Amino acid sequence: MKTLILNGSPRKQGNTVTLINRLVSELDGEMTVIDAYYCDISPCVDCRYCVTHTGCAVQDGMQSVYRLIQESDNIVIASPVYFNELTGRLLDVISRCQMYFCVAHFQGVRLITKKKKGAVILVGGGLGTEETALKTAGIILRSVGCDEICEPVCSMNTDTLNANDDEKALSGIIRMAEFLNRQRK
Ligand SMILES: Cc1cc2nc3c(=O)[nH]c(=O)nc-3n(C[C@H](O)[C@H](O)[C@H](O)COP(=O)(O)O)c2cc1C
Repeated sequence: MKTLILNGSPRKQGNTVTLINRLVSELDGEMTVIDAYYCDISPCVDCRYCVTHTGCAVQDGMQSVYRLIQESDNIVIASPVYFNELTGRLLDVISRCQMYFCVAHFQGVRLITKKKKGAVILVGGGLGTEETALKTAGIILRSVGCDEICEPVCSMNTDTLNANDDEKALSGIIRMAEFLNRQRK
């Protein structure tokens, strides 16, 4: 089983990373974490290469992430909520998945053939809600082939309750791991 985790937090020991580490400790198989703030992946600039080619023209770290996306059984989006959304750098990375949509839409080629499970982890300071970020994450997960999506884990009060002490979020992580570890029917 292969799991790809996209981490949208710049804080190396922040709340998002705390919950990612808990999940990783419960997951079976191989895991790869892509840190959106510390990887060499630039945003999609709508160059239109993928309208006529079955791939992306930009030769950077995303090329290996494309391979991971195609091979993976599970994809997890984990992010702080910034202005009610996923963080900007995470959206930069994810914008490169537009290649899959364009190749399918303009050329009728489906590069993602493996069905996957998806999951979302969000953290927030306490002002605002997770709704917009959850909706965005759901759109992205479905666009990369996730047909089963787990109940999200949200720790939305980190200004006063560290994710590490958020019992509801921590038990949600255990259930998320069980969901992701389960064999597909
Ligand atoms: C630029 C910025 C925007 C933020 N916007 C929100 C928000 O809209 N809602 C919220 O609840 N918290 C917001 N926060 C607080 C973070 O989501 C919160 O501190 C979170 O725990 C950070 O995650 P991390 O510890 O994993 O880095 C914002 C923080 C920053 C730096």
